[in-house]
Amino acid sequence: MALQGIKTAGEWLSRGEEQLRRSRVPEPAANAELLLAHVLGMSRPAIKAFPSRILTEKERHHFWHLVLERAKRTPLAYVLGFQPFMGLDIEVSPSVLVPRPETEQLVEAVLDAVEKEGKRPLNILEIGTGSGCISVALASRLPQAVLYATDISQAALRLAEKNARKHRVEGRIRFLREDIFKPDARVGSPWADVLVTNPPYVPTEKLRRLEPEVLQEPFLALDGGKDGLHAIRAIISGAPRLVKAGGWLALEIGEDQAREVVGLIRSLSAQGCSFPETQVRKDLQSKDRVVMARRARAVRDAPKCIE
Ligand SMILES: C[S@@+](CC[C@H](N)C(=O)[O-])C[C@H]1O[C@@H](n2cnc3c(N)ncnc32)[C@H](O)[C@@H]1O
Repeated sequence: MALQGIKTAGEWLSRGEEQLRRSRVPEPAANAELLLAHVLGMSRPAIKAFPSRILTEKERHHFWHLVLERAKRTPLAYVLGFQPFMGLDIEVSPSVLVPRPETEQLVEAVLDAVEKEGKRPLNILEIGTGSGCISVALASRLPQAVLYATDISQAALRLAEKNARKHRVEGRIRFLREDIFKPDARVGSPWADVLVTNPPYVPTEKLRRLEPEVLQEPFLALDGGKDGLHAIRAIISGAPRLVKAGGWLALEIGEDQAREVVGLIRSLSAQGCSFPETQVRKDLQSKDRVVMARRARAVRDAPKCIE
């Protein structure tokens, strides 16, 4: 594409949009605006208000470099290096999933559940922390909480720690490397007021049909095995030894998984490990997205629940 003689913000915006449209990037105009706003350190309305602003050589190079990256269908958040989540800028890289708006519903559900009970001390466990977005948002909103955030990916844990430092909550979150399928064998009393998780839940077969952007995100963060419930099953079966009486299990799920997930939680009760209250919450597209389950207030578990 001929770029000689292009000088103003308005001209660069239309060239950027054209390049992104050719590469079939969804919403090419909005993407071009976001990239230019990032390069110029201005808001989108501000760049649109001053289309005749002349870009420096450095700004032009930087903008075009980002456009070409996005044209490879690299997720916008990876190109920019961050994603807004619950009002916080969360740093991201290709080693972590890009935080989704649906996951904000999970955080809101946890806040609704615990804030009703006043400001009591809270122990929160997050499984599969990725960028750390859930734990960092919860720590920012709940100053009385102490969090334990786990992941199998060392690179994700490093980035999550960085995000915790950036938002000044690192003193209240412990990051631990742990495998969902090989949980810490130590037996003890259930200790978590909340176990929150956005586990990998996409059925393997469905992964191939996702948008090119999603395919650039870590497979480990998305792949939920044959039926998508591989990690969810392991987390639910481990929940009785982690969530204490009256505590919450909060799970993000695929839009068609609510019935099976609620069924898995009910089957714990059949084994004498009771989570009698369950609710399904919808996301902003009115799709089932979050399951909240509450542990019985008086727990008299069968021994197998804490084995
Ligand atoms: C769907 S991502 C969620 C990331 C982040 N919490 C969020 O909501 O954006 C799932 C996370 O689970 C982690 N994970 C995948 N398999 C795991 C395993 N076997 N043990 C522990 N964590 C695992 C991935 O590395 C990834 O960070």
